[in-house]
Amino acid sequence: MTQPDGEAQAGPVQVRGTVLTVRRVDAYYAMTVVAPGIAARFRPGQFVTLAVGGPVTAMLLRRSFSIHDVRADHGGTVEFVFSAEGAGTRWLAERRSRDVIDITGPLGRPFPVPRDPVSCLLVGGGYGSAPLFSLAARLRDRRCTVDFLLGAATGDRVFGALTARRTGRTATITTEDGSLGARGVVTDMMGQVIHEARTDVIYACGPMPMLRQVTSLARRYDIPVQVAVEELMACGIGVCMTCVLPVTGTDGITRMVRSCVDGPVFRGEQVRWDDVGTIPFDAVGAPGWEPRRRAAGLSAARGAPRAGKSANGD
Ligand SMILES: Cc1cc2nc3c(=O)[nH]c(=O)nc-3n(C[C@H](O)[C@H](O)[C@H](O)COP(=O)(O)OP(=O)(O)OC[C@H]3O[C@@H](n4cnc5c(N)ncnc54)[C@H](O)[C@@H]3O)c2cc1C
Ligand code: FES
Repeated sequence: MTQPDGEAQAGPVQVRGTVLTVRRVDAYYAMTVVAPGIAARFRPGQFVTLAVGGPVTAMLLRRSFSIHDVRADHGGTVEFVFSAEGAGTRWLAERRSRDVIDITGPLGRPFPVPRDPVSCLLVGGGYGSAPLFSLAARLRDRRCTVDFLLGAATGDRVFGALTARRTGRTATITTEDGSLGARGVVTDMMGQVIHEARTDVIYACGPMPMLRQVTSLARRYDIPVQVAVEELMACGIGVCMTCVLPVTGTDGITRMVRSCVDGPVFRGEQVRWDDVGTIPFDAVGAPGWEPRRRAAGLSAARGAPRAGKSANGD
């Protein structure tokens, strides 16, 4: 179920959701939770956060997961896909049908979709492919064509290869060990796919080094690229500033923006990839930062720009 424009309700909700299923999908787990309020509000690219560890736990931070899909059954369900790596995700993997969990969403800004029926390339790395399928459905609703380029280290970590082959105009798969598709990483194949698909727009989700490389190639081909970043998040609701990264707005000014509320989707070329994890000296509010002369003029007219203001370019 993908919401047409204008139908999604605004704002996230926190609910006690009943777990419908937890199933293994190759190297990952897919959990479906009954959460009607979240399903009704969802747009592709948004995420949920979950409390983990039960009522008495030392795991204070909620865990964030991109929403893979929402469906209308049981009043509205939300599905996400995760890798059981640390204590919180291992706890989630042990949940069973009818368990109740505390889930908040949908959070963050969704992928913008084109107005015209254009050729879209969706690039996913590992579980980063999960949010791309609801996006693909939405793009197809807009009569866009969808080509997939999915990759991972090994075949069992490529999420959704079969669905991509079934639903995409084309689906190109890469693995580093060559166990599925072409041997290599997604960006090795990107030039060829762009050429053959005559790509107009690129969407990407996956590890930060992959997103950086996808952006660099998109720039080389002069194709707009939207990336869903995955920065460490503590609160997920814009309060703690754990998730900030340097993003340059259309006004040319770099701000430290919160990927949980100003993202996680950004225009790739606006992210200062070389400076992620740092506060660049010229970012608004950095120690010793001075407004440039033009910015100072604007500031006098409009009020000084604040750190954390959206620089997502829209
Ligand atoms: C927007 C977004 C979407 C994501 N989507 C997915 C997905 O679809 N599937 C998936 O498997 N994973 C996803 N992740 C990653 C997922 O949130 C982490 O893998 C998960 O939180 C790890 O939890 P854990 O208990 O297994 O590991 P732990 O290592 O025990 O996690 C500890 C928690 O603390 C946080 N944390 C750790 N260090 C710091 C620090 N220095 N400062 C602040 N916080 C810290 C982490 O973000 C994590 O939430 C996503 C992350 C983000 C931000
Ligand atoms: S995670 Fe707290 S502000 Fe983004």
